[in-house]
Amino acid sequence: MPKDLVKSEMSALSPDKQIGNVGILSEMSERSDIIRQIPAHDRPMEIAEVLKLADELIFAKTGEHIDYLQKAILEGTFQGRTYPEIAEATHSSEGHTRDIGSELWQIFSEGLGEDITKRNFRAILEKAKFDNFSSAIGRVGRDYVAINNLNICQERARSPTEPQNPQPTSKQPQIDLGDAPEIFTFFDRTSELSTLENWITQEHTRLIALLGISGIGKTTLSLSLIDRIKTQFDYVLYRSLRFSPTLDATLTNLLQIFSQPSEIPQNIETKISHILDYLRKYRCLIVLDDVQMLLGSGQLAGPYKTGYEDYQLFFKLIAEVCHQSCLILNSWEKPREIARLSKDNHPVRCFVLGSLGVAAKEILNSQKLSDQETWSTLIDIYQGNPLWLELTATLIQELFGGRVSEFLQCEMPILDEGLQSQLSQPFGRLTPPELAVMVHLANQPEPVAVSQIFNKIPFSPSEIVNAVRSLGNRFLLDTQEQEQITLFSLNPVLKQYVKTQYLSN
Ligand SMILES: Nc1ncnc2c1ncn2[C@@H]1O[C@H](COP(=O)(O)OP(=O)(O)OP(=O)(O)O)[C@@H](O)[C@H]1O
Ligand SMILES: [Mg+2]
Repeated sequence: MPKDLVKSEMSALSPDKQIGNVGILSEMSERSDIIRQIPAHDRPMEIAEVLKLADELIFAKTGEHIDYLQKAILEGTFQGRTYPEIAEATHSSEGHTRDIGSELWQIFSEGLGEDITKRNFRAILEKAKFDNFSSAIGRVGRDYVAINNLNICQERARSPTEPQNPQPTSKQPQIDLGDAPEIFTFFDRTSELSTLENWITQEHTRLIALLGISGIGKTTLSLSLIDRIKTQFDYVLYRSLRFSPTLDATLTNLLQIFSQPSEIPQNIETKISHILDYLRKYRCLIVLDDVQMLLGSGQLAGPYKTGYEDYQLFFKLIAEVCHQSCLILNSWEKPREIARLSKDNHPVRCFVLGSLGVAAKEILNSQKLSDQETWSTLIDIYQGNPLWLELTATLIQELFGGRVSEFLQCEMPILDEGLQSQLSQPFGRLTPPELAVMVHLANQPEPVAVSQIFNKIPFSPSEIVNAVRSLGNRFLLDTQEQEQITLFSLNPVLKQYVKTQYLSN
């Protein structure tokens, strides 16, 4: 997609590129004791009051509290800083800072009924006697907030008597789970569910990557999460991207939920902007599953396939643009931009799903296996991976009469044919250096450091380092720290798979 077009849509909101008024914040803070003694209407504003007002207005408009960058822009403007200076101080791009700034001025303009820009922001607030605005927020009607006779954001209005983190209200969401699998049994994952719920409902995380090796339970967990928190949303949607739809197709599909087919725009930039509008207007929870199908095969983990790069921009916008919704991406590879965005103060999080732990015994129980005292060993070997355990349990039931101890007497681990074909998918995506690292590690009795792989396989150190990193992003390596050295190894199932597929001749 032509990125400039989306960018120009966003920056069309940026009417103001001027330097703000020079503030007197530092003097003010030195004089704070004196200021407290001056009647409110006679003294200059304090930044804390501005931030409080901003938080009220932003919450009323978006349902979210003021975030780090918005705060930095207001403080910077108050201090007479330029956008480039604020961007540098917050490690954000200048364009993004300007976009967020222009959204802020728009919120202030709507909320206060004045045409507010970066240039006149401080002067207008001073002139309008901030305390009048502030107290006006207290006039809460039945279903609106009036600020200087201006009603704002009916559906998001919040009384100042409400707690900082209001309890979510129960909604009748519109739910469309598309072709999501039906979940018949769901064991444990209690702490995973509460972490994800907290990120979404308390921390207002906009983008979550739910990551982990195939079969570990991402789809099942995300559907269970939907069931748990659906009443806090207006729309709950699930779509699998297993057939690699283009971004255009995915957006069209999602827009059909919100609007009539005739209202869906033709060009992709407008589709993106419509989706963002809906994510702002409604509280939506959207799960996009099987995101790895958008990522390239035969290259290091992370980048998108040719023709799918615009998803990267879309996910970035979801993370950066102000809205009240959450997008969850399930994938067995970490998309490249997610790591960067989560480090960049954006409301973005990664959750790497691991073993089901002791709850995996329920899987063995449901398959009516015997020899319970040996179940922990079986779960350890198969990494608490629900799919691997389900497949192996079926095998034990069919060939060993359900007796786990008899099965464990075989040379471990035995890989069911279904399990092997499951593993062939991630292995089919590896680059030659990655495959060489896997084969080398499969032959090692003990974990090894990256430097110990140098000169052992016919690739340069930098190719090996990048391969190891990429394998980590595919969740194919086990790591451990020993005397301040990171050591890498393969779990027994992957080791056995590599030996069977690549070392048997
Ligand atoms: N918590 C759980 N309780 C019971 N069964 C589970 C649980 N988690 C996963 N399973 C079972 O394990 C199998 C794999 O789960 P799921 O499809 O969710 O994995 P996945 O991580 O989405 O895999 P993939 O990446 O291949 O799509 C399914 O049959 C599912 O029913
Ligand atoms: Mg899945």
